Amino acid sequence: MGPLMTESTAPVVERFQDKCRYEIRSGEELAGFTAYRDHDGQRIFYHTEIDDTYTGQGLASRLVQQALTDTRESGKRIVPVCPYVAKFLRRHVEFDENVDPVTADVRRWLNCALHDRAGN
Ligand SMILES: CC(C)(COP(=O)(O)OP(=O)(O)OC[C@H]1O[C@@H](n2cnc3c(N)ncnc32)[C@H](O)[C@@H]1OP(=O)(O)O)[C@@H](O)C(=O)NCCC(=O)NCCS
Repeated sequence: MGPLMTESTAPVVERFQDKCRYEIRSGEELAGFTAYRDHDGQRIFYHTEIDDTYTGQGLASRLVQQALTDTRESGKRIVPVCPYVAKFLRRHVEFDENVDPVTADVRRWLNCALHDRAGN
């Protein structure tokens, strides 16, 4: 028998409504997040970040895949302001029907929403 395999735990994605973001954890450790604001039936994704220690392992892809699936299941439209989410969507046409374009109105609303909220 070879050495015991170390138990590998798949990274877990969870939505935190109060923080308006989905987080991905590797074991106990927070590895990254994708942040959004909800407005008018749309979920506007504006920033995705994976901690340096965890980049290049497909975690952003896993995180965004699950966040977009959850958004679609909740009946909301996806708006990809975040360049990483936009890039992801170009390679995942299965979400096309659920995506709205990033308009000037969306950008204006988002800027106000982000600046109005203390702590952002
Ligand atoms: C961008 C970022 C989230 C990627 O995380 P990651 O877990 O390493 O990503 P994955 O391993 O799932 O995917 C890597 C892909 O991300 C792409 N990527 C890296 N930086 C990117 C950026 N700024 N915008 C869009 N795509 C980016 C890579 O080109 C690679 O694409 P490929 O699969 O076609 O080669 C991470 O590097 C990060 O937090 N960067 C700093 C913050 C940032 O620039 N966020 C994106 C704009 S909101």
